[in-house]
Amino acid sequence: MAGRDLAVRRALRAHADPLVVDLGYGASPVTTVELAARLRAHVPDVRVLGLELDEQRVAAGAAVAAPPVLDFRRGGFELAGTRPVLVRAFNVLRQYAESDVEPSWRAMLERLAPGGLLVDGTCDEIGRICSWVTVARSGPVSLTLSCRPATLDRRRPWPNGCRRCSSTATCPVSASTPC
Ligand SMILES: C[S@@+](CC[C@H](N)C(=O)[O-])C[C@H]1O[C@@H](n2cnc3c(N)ncnc32)[C@H](O)[C@@H]1O
Repeated sequence: MAGRDLAVRRALRAHADPLVVDLGYGASPVTTVELAARLRAHVPDVRVLGLELDEQRVAAGAAVAAPPVLDFRRGGFELAGTRPVLVRAFNVLRQYAESDVEPSWRAMLERLAPGGLLVDGTCDEIGRICSWVTVARSGPVSLTLSCRPATLDRRRPWPNGCRRCSSTATCPVSASTPC
């Protein structure tokens, strides 16, 4: 995701010390490790720092750390006092109230390096369906919706009934088009 995004690549390449924060990386540091590998293919001197509120998750990250290029620390929206060029926060703010989003974004955006970006998104468990917004201090830059159509189950029943006929039977057309 981040490696293919032109705005992200430009921002990272414009900085002498391109630091990326993966905020709220979760139970396993695997997504942070993958992010670092993918970004390094485009920005060889990138450094990635995983931040978590949960101490046990920080300890899990520390076990695979390779400082200074890949590190893990305890931290939240204050970004542990760092000035990253990019913050990725995936599936973090969806645990919060909608009214928390703006102050959280503001807290992170204020701490970015000049020209920095925040990528805030959400996805299903295996990342086949994703959406994310890229935000700069001056405001939103883009909204991306992404999915792999071949993996979508097109014959899933409507759990709450079809919006038109109220049937809960398997929709013969698709899961996204009411019959
Ligand atoms: C659902 S997991 C997301 C994991 C990973 N980013 C992913 O998309 O697979 C959300 C994580 O965010 C962490 N978290 C929640 N609020 C946070 C905050 N303000 N700062 C840092 N981490 C936070 C939680 O501890 C949890 O591990």
